[in-house]
Amino acid sequence: MTDLHTIFRCPSCGAEFDPRAACSACGASVPVVGAGVHDFLADRERSLPAQEVEAFYEVRPFPGYAPGDDAGSVLDRSRRSNFLDALDRAIPVDAAVLDAGCGTGQLVSFLALAAKQRKVVGVDGCPASLAEADRFRQRVGIPNLTLARADLFQLPLAPRSFDVVVSRGVVHHTEDPARATELVADLVKPGGYFVLGFYETFGRSFHCVRRALGRVAGEPIAALDPILRARDLDDEKKRTWIADQYHHPLERILPTPRVVRELRGMGFTLLRTVPPAVTRGSLFDADAPGALGLFARRVGWALAGLNDPDAGLVSVVARRDG
Ligand SMILES: C[S@@+](CC[C@H](N)C(=O)[O-])C[C@H]1O[C@@H](n2cnc3c(N)ncnc32)[C@H](O)[C@@H]1O
Repeated sequence: MTDLHTIFRCPSCGAEFDPRAACSACGASVPVVGAGVHDFLADRERSLPAQEVEAFYEVRPFPGYAPGDDAGSVLDRSRRSNFLDALDRAIPVDAAVLDAGCGTGQLVSFLALAAKQRKVVGVDGCPASLAEADRFRQRVGIPNLTLARADLFQLPLAPRSFDVVVSRGVVHHTEDPARATELVADLVKPGGYFVLGFYETFGRSFHCVRRALGRVAGEPIAALDPILRARDLDDEKKRTWIADQYHHPLERILPTPRVVRELRGMGFTLLRTVPPAVTRGSLFDADAPGALGLFARRVGWALAGLNDPDAGLVSVVARRDG
């Protein structure tokens, strides 16, 4: 990518910054780890909760790659997901896209591979996850993908510089999800789109009960969990799921109405929630329920808990006005 300086900001002086070179204003530079992860946290102290979350993902980078994964398998697997396929189809082929909390980079790899003109950036706080993303990018060759290690609370990115910002499964693992959401949303251009995925209060309620019962029983109760019940899933994937869902060091649940209210306060319009799946039109088409419709939807998410493979992860899609 040639124009990184319009997207990144110097961590020392805040000037436009290309992380591949020293800052032209103050001379500061950012170390590169592995083949090309720009480490903005190399000499920064993170908060204690962020350190705990980082330590958790250091031993369990998420999501895992399948053995032998290549460009074709990541494209195929992503296209089989209704949500990811809809996301790719909705994002213009030349858009600037950010995944805030990209983990091992499967989503950013998919979006970059699917359209070579897209400028895709993945940031995450976890070195081991980014190392996996970096190795995959190197092996497959994805020149339009930039990876950076940064914290959601100190993002070295220019406000309003991305056409699309995605952040799934991340803000609910921070000490202040509302502030994290605000900081990430701030990066969306006027007229751009924000896709925020989080554990929803109603949607997650069944899992909270299931997890509490697991604690009483001394281990997760497989009969209550569709992932642990699945016969075609290997033991390693199930162990990762148990760690993530039953032993995570920091998890919050968020009510959709409050998230929507906060986004409105920042100048966004709600377009839709997922679920439900996108069955026609674009993910970015307006299809938002009213207050009563949203309540009914949330009750549906709560009732679907026993068989929900996402355990209450809901995404809202919003557009920044202007
Ligand atoms: C459950 S994983 C989700 C990864 C990816 N978004 C996905 O959907 O597969 C959560 C990710 O958020 C990252 N994360 C959590 N808190 C963060 C923070 N304050 N700053 C940057 N990344 C953070 C973790 O390192 C981890 O990779």
